[in-house]
Amino acid sequence: MPDEFKKLFETGRIGNMVLRNRFALAPAGTHSCEPDGRYTQRTIDYYADRARGGTALVILEGHKVEVKLEPRAGFVVSAHSDEYVPAMVEMVEAIHSYGGKACIQLQTNMGRENFGIYTQDNPPISASAVPAYWNPNILCRPLEAEEIQEIVKAFGAACQRALKAGFDAIEIHAHTGYLLDQFMSSLWNKRTDEYGGDFDGRMRFTAEIIREARKVVGLDYPLIFRYSADQKYPGGRDIAESQKIAKRLEALSVSALHVDAGIYESIYWAAPPNYLGDAPLIDTIAEIKKAVNIPVIAVGSLTPETAEAALRDGKCDFVAFTRQLLADVDMPNKLYEGHPEDVRPCIRCNEFCIGHVFGGKIVTCGLTPEAGNEMNNKITPSEKQKNIVVVGGGCGGMEAARVAALRGHKVTLFEKSGELGGLLGIIATPEFKKQLKKLIEWYKVQLSKSHIDIHLNTEITADSPELAEADHIIVAIGGNSMRPNIPGIDTENVIDVIDYHKGVKKINGKKVVVAGGGMSGCDAALELAMEGKQVTLVEMLDGVAKEVNHFTKMAINNILPEHGIKILTSHKVKEFRPDGVLIQAPEGVDMLIETDAVITSFGMNSKKEEAESIQNKYYDVRVIGDSAKPGRVGDAIRAAYFTTMHI
Ligand SMILES: Cc1cc2nc3c(=O)[nH]c(=O)nc-3n(C[C@H](O)[C@H](O)[C@H](O)COP(=O)(O)O)c2cc1C
Repeated sequence: MPDEFKKLFETGRIGNMVLRNRFALAPAGTHSCEPDGRYTQRTIDYYADRARGGTALVILEGHKVEVKLEPRAGFVVSAHSDEYVPAMVEMVEAIHSYGGKACIQLQTNMGRENFGIYTQDNPPISASAVPAYWNPNILCRPLEAEEIQEIVKAFGAACQRALKAGFDAIEIHAHTGYLLDQFMSSLWNKRTDEYGGDFDGRMRFTAEIIREARKVVGLDYPLIFRYSADQKYPGGRDIAESQKIAKRLEALSVSALHVDAGIYESIYWAAPPNYLGDAPLIDTIAEIKKAVNIPVIAVGSLTPETAEAALRDGKCDFVAFTRQLLADVDMPNKLYEGHPEDVRPCIRCNEFCIGHVFGGKIVTCGLTPEAGNEMNNKITPSEKQKNIVVVGGGCGGMEAARVAALRGHKVTLFEKSGELGGLLGIIATPEFKKQLKKLIEWYKVQLSKSHIDIHLNTEITADSPELAEADHIIVAIGGNSMRPNIPGIDTENVIDVIDYHKGVKKINGKKVVVAGGGMSGCDAALELAMEGKQVTLVEMLDGVAKEVNHFTKMAINNILPEHGIKILTSHKVKEFRPDGVLIQAPEGVDMLIETDAVITSFGMNSKKEEAESIQNKYYDVRVIGDSAKPGRVGDAIRAAYFTTMHI
């Protein structure tokens, strides 16, 4: 084990549980259970594989403890009945078989944040009659004191089941504004009975749950409590109150704290997108650590380096990861074996993990299709070695070449430019896209460790002799920027977004209009604002970044205005002029925005003709990524993976 990650591999202890290292899997809904909340084999495989990859503490996703007051919405795992125990036993055994410790996360309920179907006559439950998150026109139904007692009892019963199944630890889920948080926070707790009012009143429900759990599990058993130390919302709890909560939890005999940030109104802090950088919560977490003597688990866009540094600096005692362990389940083992260069970096795109779960799909990863389907998605040797030619060295082409080589094929990759990385390499100019750069570096390392014959500065067309001997051709040549037929688009100061990233043209002056508010336009606007430009972003639709997941979209909609970017939605570009952009406002009125330069970001077209000409000449040609259909990084990588797995 290398010295640089020494702290990560020290043994640790929470309550009476000894852990082989400091890595924890942060709890994450997988949506892989049965409709009634029972684990499937897929759920068990997912968690067992995290233990196999070297993670010491495997914290499972939030399990419901009761379904009467709040029915299950979506594919949420459950611990509300004894019928669930047999599958729990199998889960624990599978995690133990790889030397991991199994921790179950139990959640009281989601309350006002529940996304089930609610009406005025059937409102969600909460501490008080506060607006439901998903439909603020509906006021929540405050729980009766007897109902609170029912939940406390249900929690104790779920703890009993967890013990019976052999779980090594229990985590109480009070984070991100869920029901317990609704009671703990003055944002939503407006009660005047014993469960509201002052700090003690707001903490009463939580205190009763902890006491009930302790009655069941005994004093030494690891009972972890997870909460948001910074709600990132006006009027929400501040650090001082979070420290007070931490001290109270310690006094209530909680064994460890698992600290993060955000509520549904600021949910992007709970799975921070690339814009928030590395370890954005660590200083907040360190403040909580200062207040208590029990172990503190840190989370939030950690990397091996930031995690090790946080441990060394005494900011936390354990480090939890969700998305990085989706991107690379073997991260702990790779670090232990001295191969940090092999750890595939999470790009924090949120599309296939939390984006999937919020979209009602099963969790996976844009970079790593094995994640969430460990049983079926395995790179296996091909029965017959084939001669595979990959055209294009972007992320799709590199992934296709990597997987094909791992399967034992003979692979040749051709790239037109002098660099691997394709569009990703070009657009990853700002600091907030550094994970993309890391991903390209990772691919370069992986390709250099295989026997792939790479030819840079080599353009391949249908007539190229290099294709003649191929058994299979994979075309991953990407796309081109769309240039709609808007008057004045060829004006000197109108620059295509890719040319902007390439630095082809210098932007003179301070004022810039970005035309097109998809993610690419938003990112360009942010980069320009960070360079000190005065930016107006114009989008024809009624919102920006509409194509991206809920978390990233919320981040973009908050961060852009924080950087002074003026966003005009439902505004259509009519004409580019040397002195400005003529825009049609929603009311149909035209207005001229004076500007020094314009960046156009109207989306991509696939390079259909080039791809089709190869398809027309050869029989086995697979067209993937943007050259088939412009999409996300994960779409290209996953298409490359699955295509190559079936050759
Ligand atoms: C797909 C997904 C599902 C999540 N579900 C839960 C959950 O059930 N309980 C919980 O406390 N946190 C949940 N989270 C938050 C994670 O535990 C974690 O705090 C977050 O992903 C930030 O850590 P990371 O940067 O290592 O991914 C979820 C996150 C993701 C990405």
